[in-house]
Amino acid sequence: PFSHMIKVPPSLLAQHGRGADQVWMAIENKVYNVSAYMPFHPGGDKELLRGAGRDATKIFMDTHPWVNYGQMLDQCLIGILVSEEEAAA
Ligand code: HEM
Repeated sequence: PFSHMIKVPPSLLAQHGRGADQVWMAIENKVYNVSAYMPFHPGGDKELLRGAGRDATKIFMDTHPWVNYGQMLDQCLIGILVSEEEAAA
């Protein structure tokens, strides 16, 4: 999957927040398109959407640090979270 990973700065991530056509979420600097997973989230879409369009690492870890999100969202991985400066470079 690494070959088609894109660099995602916070401003782009924010365009994929709650209400967006495709909802993105960053966890530990990896950016996922969580749209397909949303109906399957045991905590429901309302809870999942709390992390929409932003770095959800803290809220995720505060909620369920035991969940192996990397394996679960393997097919949803689209990029890495970078600074605005790095994305522009
Ligand atoms: C369960 C919140 C993201 C996977 C839950 C529950 C909450 C929650 C409140 C408890 C539901 C209940 O027991 O009634 C959140 C929030 C998220 C988030 C606020 C983002 C900010 C994710 C993501 C994944 C995930 C990205 C997976 C890729 C799970 C799983 C459970 C769960 C597997 C069941 C855990 C268990 O029972 O041990 N979530 N979630 N969640 N969530 Fe999330």
